[in-house]
Amino acid sequence: MDFKTILQEVYNDLSQTEDKGQLASYIPELANINPDKFGIHFFSIDGIHYGMGDHQEKFSCQSIIKVLSLCLAFKTVGVRIWERVGVEPSGTPFNSLVQLEYEKGIPRNPFINAGAIVICDILISHLDKPKEEFLDFIRHIADNSEINCDSKIAISEKAHGYRNAALINMMKSFDNIENPIEEVLDFYYDICSIEMSCEELAKTFLLFANNGCIPSSNERIITTSQSKRINAIMQCCGFYDEAGEFSFKVGLPGKSGVGGGIVAIHPGKYSVAVWSPRLNKKGNSYKGILALEMLTTKSELSIF
Ligand code: DON
Repeated sequence: MDFKTILQEVYNDLSQTEDKGQLASYIPELANINPDKFGIHFFSIDGIHYGMGDHQEKFSCQSIIKVLSLCLAFKTVGVRIWERVGVEPSGTPFNSLVQLEYEKGIPRNPFINAGAIVICDILISHLDKPKEEFLDFIRHIADNSEINCDSKIAISEKAHGYRNAALINMMKSFDNIENPIEEVLDFYYDICSIEMSCEELAKTFLLFANNGCIPSSNERIITTSQSKRINAIMQCCGFYDEAGEFSFKVGLPGKSGVGGGIVAIHPGKYSVAVWSPRLNKKGNSYKGILALEMLTTKSELSIF
């Protein structure tokens, strides 16, 4: 399969496509990004990789990072995490409050904000220096020491994080948060603010395309079973109330973030990351979804 040519076609087509999305403005600092940025990077598990456009420019990972926090929590704590968070699609927006009360403070899945906040609480309970150890975990997988948080973004989000404050307070009232609320939220905003490029993200996510091992070193990070389960959650929950549509159009497990990034993986084959900051109404990158739909349509390869 000539993925390089396909990537070039996707890039050319999308350069001429009108972008109907809008920048995320509820985190004020994110609204300062040039909305016309566009990058895409493809990494096969054999180490062949190509990128186009702004694929080496770092951007705010936001919810994409929730896959890696889940990965570290699952690796550290094992199946007990499922006592605190579910694995079902929510069918609601990423910051929705409605299910949390009648489901007694147990979030539907680890990718909606409530679920990712519980995962942060679990990590804080098990790590001595959560922020440093989580950054080191990603730097190790990425084989890259230049991966950092952007404190401007974290501070900007914290100043406007009324919904996340509501979510964590509700969960605390149901005894599903062990640590002080401020500490958990600070850690959550820090990890959401981590910056990576499409190239760095595609390389990092290869382990999910390779049964939990880093392909270049063969180092095992998580078990094959844990990798299968994380991919299943990406498939069912990676795009919130657009997860069905993403499966329908793209046919790969993936995860989006309000910074405009999306990472998708084809188990046994490749990982691909795309960045285009204008979001659709569900908070997912408008052109990012189009790019991945074109990629799997043109290559005639998806998991289905
Ligand atoms: O908590 C928030 O709202 C953000 N830090 C992350 C949300 C997000 O990226 C949703 N994804 N599309």
